[in-house]
Amino acid sequence: MHIHVLGAAAGGGFPQWNCNCFNCDGLRKGTIKATKRTQSSICVSGDGVNWVLFNASPDVLQQIQDFAPLQPGRAIRDSGIQAIILIDAQIDHTTGLFMLREGKVKREIYCTDMVYEDLTSGNQILNILGHYCGINRHDVPIDGNTRFEIPNVPNLRFTAVALKSAAPPYSPHRNDPHPGDTIGVLIEEISTGKKCWYSPGLAEIEPHLPPLMSQADCIMVDGTFWTDTEMIDMGLMTKTARSIGHNPQSGEGGMIEKLNEFGDVRKVLIHINNTNPILREDSAERAILDTHKIEVAYDGMDIIL
Ligand code: MLT
Ligand code: MN
Ligand code: ZN
Repeated sequence: MHIHVLGAAAGGGFPQWNCNCFNCDGLRKGTIKATKRTQSSICVSGDGVNWVLFNASPDVLQQIQDFAPLQPGRAIRDSGIQAIILIDAQIDHTTGLFMLREGKVKREIYCTDMVYEDLTSGNQILNILGHYCGINRHDVPIDGNTRFEIPNVPNLRFTAVALKSAAPPYSPHRNDPHPGDTIGVLIEEISTGKKCWYSPGLAEIEPHLPPLMSQADCIMVDGTFWTDTEMIDMGLMTKTARSIGHNPQSGEGGMIEKLNEFGDVRKVLIHINNTNPILREDSAERAILDTHKIEVAYDGMDIIL
């Protein structure tokens, strides 16, 4: 299985257009050891030709330009992207769909009922696409047992599960969480049996998740914040990381402690907010991750399982 990180940053990217935090300012000025990152998305293939895109980042056009296998190569209108799985309805995971509106072949969109509802009500993006390429929407089972395959993306199989989360700020049910607002997905390559767990938004590793996550050869999870109060401490937000659906890395019950429970498999943090000190390659926080063998995803990272 080939997993390619198209974008490793959380919403806003790194640097964020209006952000003057230590990291964003330092990246612009070249005074910190870090590299820029676009907003969170990966693509996965079981044959190297046909790809499933996980989330459509606002930066998707740049991401396609930077990764040749997604570019047209066979016909006058063409793409390596055969289908799109949306893990939630957040702006940073869906607005790239506007950029993928061209063509006469319908976009194959896999999402839960809750995400579909948000993307046809509070944010009408899937309705609007109907006036361009159109979409074929497919439901995603979220019981954690039902495996599904995607026609045109051979050799991959998927198992999705509902995660504790929050619907996006614009959602009609923002303050009333429903199963399916956010999912995690176990991606399996059929020919090799290799598996990758992907959950860029993960507020808590609830008891129903380890049976799935522990099957994975690579665990890619939410790397948004280092501390629960990161945004509060910087005066940027009044909410904690956990309350907006992101388990922080440090502290009791944090991602480092939780990932340690999964033993000696590859562990990668993705969807990293621009305020997070782990973006600085020489930071103390990054050194702590190193001791736990936890990697920090970057744009262009390839993971071959
Ligand atoms: C999130 O991951 O919490 C959201 O993408 C935040 C945002 O929309 O900026
Ligand atoms: Mn996000
Ligand atoms: Zn910043």
